[in-house]
Order: sequence, then structure tokens, then C-alpha cells
Amino acid sequence: MRRPLIAGNWKMNMSVREAEDFIDAIKKAADTTSDEVLVCVPSIHLGLLSSKVFGSNLEIGAQTMHEEEKGAFTGEISADMLKDYGISHCIIGHSERRKFFNETDVTVNLKLKKALEKDISPVVCVGETLEEKEGGIAESVIKRQILGAFKDIPGKEAEIVAVAYEPVWAIGTGRTAEPEDAQKTIGYIRELLDDKYGKEISEKTRILYGGSVKSSNIKNIMKQKDIDGVLVGGASLDKDHFKKIIKYK
Ligand code: 13P
Repeated sequence: MRRPLIAGNWKMNMSVREAEDFIDAIKKAADTTSDEVLVCVPSIHLGLLSSKVFGSNLEIGAQTMHEEEKGAFTGEISADMLKDYGISHCIIGHSERRKFFNETDVTVNLKLKKALEKDISPVVCVGETLEEKEGGIAESVIKRQILGAFKDIPGKEAEIVAVAYEPVWAIGTGRTAEPEDAQKTIGYIRELLDDKYGKEISEKTRILYGGSVKSSNIKNIMKQKDIDGVLVGGASLDKDHFKKIIKYK
């Protein structure tokens, strides 16, 4: 049985006061679900917020990390720094990182390996752009991203990774993928993992959907057989809305 993962991604939003207020407000909802609840916050809030959730079911994650151990990489944060604050999860290869910060399948793979080496659970993002979808190459893009991300990663480690399928055309646009279409692509991702690692691993790996998830559509998304959770952007910035998302059942 795969435990559902309900994750928020604040991106570059939230003042420190808003962030603390938000975490205080949703802790109870997170503690009353059997799902895993994660909020990925700007790096500067990681230390403060991780100390606020200690002992609760709510987890704080990072939005990115560097693939090197340490060194002259101005502005970056390392896996060890995340570990220092007890951070358990990190988003890797979000489409905004790929688009604005030149992350590639190669760097995504290196980051994934570093996170796994340091016992940080990665949430690795894949997804096609509108142009790729309309050009009929969505599946080949997903295949390239998945095989690239998991290159040389052994099965025992692969099952710790959560994959988030986030079609770029659905991010921040209000245009959610139809749940059946999301299921189809996520089913395809599970097949790719099955081909690479076999059923035992592919049936354990969680695959999330992300892209304009809201309290009004989460239920139908979570009904799909291969969808094990959601990665929520815009709707994770409003505490009342995110509470409803956590309580979708
Ligand atoms: P939205 O929910 O705002 O579409 O963002 C999705 C996302 O990018 C989560 O990582």
C-alpha cells in the first residue's frame, strides 16, 4: 500500500510572519489525517519552520538543493545543510528550475543521487510543455526525463523517490489535466519504472500529480488508481484552502 503524499510548494512566496501563521493554522489538519503532509518552503524559512513542526505529522521540505557536497557555489544550499535542520524532503528538477535555472536531466540525476546518499526523500518533477504536448511528443519527453533522473540509481533507492508528474501547461494556469489523462500518463510512468526495476519496486514508488490542484478537484484526482498524491502550488498559499486539500477525503 502506498501512503498518499499531500505536498505544497510555496515557490518564492510568504513572509516569515505569514509562514509561521500558516504552519500554526494547518498543523491540526495535518495531524488528523493518515496521509503524509509536506510543505516545501523557501530555503530561508526552513530552519524556523522545521522547529515548529517537530513531533507533528506535518513535514517541511526544501524546493531545491545543490548536487555537490559543498564549496564555491554562491547562493546554493547543500544536502548536509538540509539535514542539519532535520529536513526530510526536497523537490528536485521542478519545471521552473529547469526553465529559469538551466537544470537538465543530468543535473536532476546528480541531485537525486546526492539527496538519496544523504537520506533526503526526493520529490522529482517531470512533465511536458504545451508545445511538446501539441507536438505529440509528451510520452517521449516523460520517458527521457524519467530515465535521465533514475540513471544508475538502484531499485532499493528508487522506491524512496516520489515522482511528481506536473504538465507544464497545467502549472499556474488553472487548466488542470483531466484526472483520466493524468492517470494515463502516471500509469505510463509506473510502466517505465516497472520496465527498469520490476513490479516490486514500481508498485512501491509514489507518483503524484501537480498542476492547478485545488480543493474542488483533488478528490477526483486522488480517485485514480496510480495517483498517490498531489503537489500543490498556488492553492497551497492559502491556509484555509490548503486545509481543505488536506481533508479532501
Ligand atoms: P500550481 O498548483 O500553482 O499550478 O503549481 C503547481 C506546481 O508547480 C507545484 O510544484
